[in-house]
Amino acid sequence: MTTTGFTPVSASPDALVTRANPRKLWWRVADIMSLSSALQTLPAFSGSTPLARAVDYLRISVTDRCNERCLYCLPEQFQAWLPRSEILTYEEILSIVQIAVERGFKHFRVTGGEPLLRRDLPHFLEELIHTPGVKTVQVTTNGTRLLELADALHQSGLQRLNVSLDALDPSRYHDITHGDVKPVLAGLERARALGFSSLKLNTVLIRHKNEEEIWPLVQFAASLQIPIRFIELMPVSLTEMLTEENFLPVGEVMQMLAQKDTLIPLETKLGHGPAQYYRLEKTGAVVGFIGALTNLHFCESCNKIRLTADGFIRPCLGNHGEYDLKPALRPLVDREELRARLDQSILEKPPEHLFRDNWKPQRIMTAIGG
Ligand code: 5AD
Ligand code: SF4
Repeated sequence: MTTTGFTPVSASPDALVTRANPRKLWWRVADIMSLSSALQTLPAFSGSTPLARAVDYLRISVTDRCNERCLYCLPEQFQAWLPRSEILTYEEILSIVQIAVERGFKHFRVTGGEPLLRRDLPHFLEELIHTPGVKTVQVTTNGTRLLELADALHQSGLQRLNVSLDALDPSRYHDITHGDVKPVLAGLERARALGFSSLKLNTVLIRHKNEEEIWPLVQFAASLQIPIRFIELMPVSLTEMLTEENFLPVGEVMQMLAQKDTLIPLETKLGHGPAQYYRLEKTGAVVGFIGALTNLHFCESCNKIRLTADGFIRPCLGNHGEYDLKPALRPLVDREELRARLDQSILEKPPEHLFRDNWKPQRIMTAIGG
């Protein structure tokens, strides 16, 4: 098989051109101002921003399916799942992981859709964890099946779990996810009891939907002694949630928290992602902020690429370029070709996302991997 001449698929030239849309400039002015003024009132974040972007982190979407319908992710009636035959088998994913490790990848995150919906996930995780060269494996889940699966996940050797929790109040949680918060909280409790070495909460910020949940969530995280990360809405779904009305910048949340407690920047880096962490002096909570839109240095330290559920490498969430690995996997695994395609995708990882330029997602995030 030739390794030359393949181009990123689904990369529409339009999408790759930076076009500022004046209607989308609202967040630039208002939110960067609010972030920078929030930062001025807080101690400077002293974590270093690595200049070199050594790509060593692969996020793997094992399924595009989900049993929730978060406002910012999946349209309520969405049913257009990928055909099963298109979804990579666990063996195919592990072949990619082996090549990735050879190429210096160390950290892996398993996502979806909702990864716990995929059959035999604990068994796959065990194999992934034991693949030579794999240093850390994390799972991001909506937590709806955590109570059933926490024990099996822990037995698989998994130590790191991120659970999405956008609200504690059942009706607000339902409003955002269309799901039930009770099993999520029970699953979290079980995971806590099992003693995962890293357990974190993720909260996507939506103005008027979960602003009032922020402080209760921080207190909840402090009571469990686990970090919570607040994530700015990104334009990655097909549900058009990212509007001026809905967008809540992390800078504003920092200001809000600074009125209740003192934020002290954490010296050590937690995890392998883009969050900037602070400890709240009085509550003891550890709070991370993921400001994909308002943090203009967000992409500088990006060390990850994504493997979609159907076998494409997506070097950047905010850029349509994708590299199809399937021809190197089917009908038989061609390791040379796989290596070449993976190398190419890393080489062409764009310097930064295009979310600030009237970005239009072309496919749902659940297939790409959150
Ligand atoms: N904006 C920000 N974060 C999102 N996620 C999914 N969709 C979005 C979006 N539009 C994140 C959620 C979830 C993870 C799987 O992906 O935090 O926890
Ligand atoms: Fe499902 Fe996660 Fe998307 Fe919500 S954000 S619909 S839980 S995949």
